[in-house]
Amino acid sequence: MAKSTQHRLFFAVDLASSIKTQLIQLQDTHQEIEGRPVAAENFHITLSFLGNTSDKQLETILDGICPLTQPAFEVSTEDSFYWPRPSIIAVAVNDEHNRLLKCKKQLEHQLSQLNFFSFKKQQYQPHITLFRSVETPPRQAIKFNQTIQVDHVSLMLSENTRNGVRYTSLEQWQLQAPSIKQQLLGHRCL
Ligand code: 2AM
Repeated sequence: MAKSTQHRLFFAVDLASSIKTQLIQLQDTHQEIEGRPVAAENFHITLSFLGNTSDKQLETILDGICPLTQPAFEVSTEDSFYWPRPSIIAVAVNDEHNRLLKCKKQLEHQLSQLNFFSFKKQQYQPHITLFRSVETPPRQAIKFNQTIQVDHVSLMLSENTRNGVRYTSLEQWQLQAPSIKQQLLGHRCL
């Protein structure tokens, strides 16, 4: 039997190129940080990490995930923080109204309905990783107060290339307010 390819996948909020440009400028102004700067195209807010996923599972996700019943919204970013494990410096994302968390929960509920995935319970800490492999905590937080528009979620593929890890969006699902049918009959694909 042919060996199934494994795909390293995660759901995320992809960022506008204007925000990515500002994050690169932020990295440039903090060259004292001894760590690996994340490439512009790889900036994202992780919603849910799936890890290694077979062809069949990928097909099931692509066929089975329905648009989330959450209207588009905004979140704000805050000062950076140091996360000793996994040794990153990240910009904190303020999910004040728990809308990112709601998207994450809806996705994970749908994925568990598809029978493939179970998720370990850990506190969700929305962030945008700026530097990886940082062994020494920085002396000061980096300021980055911006607004991020969230109008879709993306299924991201993580690949190791000769130039390092690269994330690409395989598919996107627009956010939308629940229809009357969904409000009355529950959050099914209608
Ligand atoms: P990130 O830093 O690129 O967002 C798998 O564990 C991945 O999920 C990590 O590499 C990290 O990716 C993200 N992650 C880990 N713990 C998390 C948490 N508590 N909240 C949100 N994202 C997390």
